[in-house]
Amino acid sequence: MEKMPYQPELERAATMAVPASTTPRPVSGDACSGQATATTTDWRSGLPVLGAAAISLRELRREDAPSLHAMLTTEEVARFISPPPTTVAGFEQFIAWTHRERLSGNYICFGIVPAGMTVAVGIFQLRSIEPGFGSAEWGFALGSPFWGTGLFAEGARLVLNFAVDVAGIARLEARAAVANGRGNGALRKIGAVQEGVLRRSFLRNGQYHDQVLWSILAEDWRLQRIGQEPTVVH
Ligand SMILES: CC(C)(COP(=O)(O)OP(=O)(O)OC[C@H]1O[C@@H](n2cnc3c(N)ncnc32)[C@H](O)[C@@H]1OP(=O)(O)O)[C@@H](O)C(=O)NCCC(=O)NCCS
Repeated sequence: MEKMPYQPELERAATMAVPASTTPRPVSGDACSGQATATTTDWRSGLPVLGAAAISLRELRREDAPSLHAMLTTEEVARFISPPPTTVAGFEQFIAWTHRERLSGNYICFGIVPAGMTVAVGIFQLRSIEPGFGSAEWGFALGSPFWGTGLFAEGARLVLNFAVDVAGIARLEARAAVANGRGNGALRKIGAVQEGVLRRSFLRNGQYHDQVLWSILAEDWRLQRIGQEPTVVH
């Protein structure tokens, strides 16, 4: 998460209207059904809605900005991630930016919407680190009222299915500051493999932190998910 493109200078960027093409669209075929499938490029013109019992993941919308601002700017959430926007307007610009980046094909951002709510309380991001999205880095942040509720694990499962089946990602990396107990615990419990420590690789508030490098391979995820509930795609 720490190196994800989640930068305060976004607040100074000109606000752009959300492209009409960002309306969530269904993915074709058996994508996200739990089967290994061919890659589809549909997500570049609009993300599908991914659903499970307690959660749905969808494209961010402008109206998510106040909720994301309230949830993601607290010290406990933000202390180990790149500085989030500091205003609601900054989040609106960030949301418009996520749509432009998704259209470019290098970046995907899902909003986390708990069952019974209409706005996002967190995000999952995927960023291509190799042409064609063969390898990607992912990051996530969730409002602290929802920590320990199971939302993270359920959302991570949906994102991993999407990453493997739809985006065609073969290797997914994550970096978590060594001192980020929850972040590392969350990655460990969904089956990520610790590969090493990146020394002094993350600068936050003028201080360098070591980060743990985690990975999940598509082939490992396909084996791990057998027996899990199929993903619902709307
Ligand atoms: C990362 C995040 C999305 C995880 O969501 P969450 O709801 O807190 O995660 P969960 O509770 O499902 O899992 C965290 C696990 O870490 C464990 N944990 C908590 N503190 C820990 C610590 N100090 N050391 C080790 N493990 C710890 C928890 O017990 C839990 O495991 P369990 O379910 O087996 O008990 C959320 O904590 C968050 O948004 N954090 C701030 C943003 C952030 O740091 N993101 C970057 C992560 S790389």
